[in-house]
Amino acid sequence: MKILVLNGPNLGRLDLRNSAIYGQMDFPALSAFISNEAQKLGLDVDIRQSDSETELITWLHAAADEKSPVIFNPAAFTHYSYAIRDAVDMLTAPVIEVHLSNPLAREEFRHTSVISGVVNGTIGGFGPDSYRLALIALKAMI
Ligand code: DQA
Repeated sequence: MKILVLNGPNLGRLDLRNSAIYGQMDFPALSAFISNEAQKLGLDVDIRQSDSETELITWLHAAADEKSPVIFNPAAFTHYSYAIRDAVDMLTAPVIEVHLSNPLAREEFRHTSVISGVVNGTIGGFGPDSYRLALIALKAMI
């Protein structure tokens, strides 16, 4: 069973983002970290990133059709995309929301997640380890 690890807008350019918030890893390094942690746990991952809401929704529809578990960092879409929320709500296998930073400790607009109400759980604030912890949680659920 393949776990889909989806990443939303601007996460492909972690190299340009504030390293005090997002850490030192660029997206290829983050992907390698996730793949390595998944391998250690005996899990198969398909890691993707898109800046496009449409593309993310297409991937979520396919995950719903294929009953794939999902680890999802919706990035800024977390805070306002009802279209992505509705697509996440269609998933039948477990889905975990992750964030590198802790959005609740940041600007007020980041305190709302329109996604959290339709996922099994949310992990944020641990940098790349948020993904590792999500893999551990998913392994226990599938
Ligand atoms: C993020 C937090 C969001 O508020 C932000 O828009 C991102 C990344 C995180 O991983 O910490 O792009 O999802």
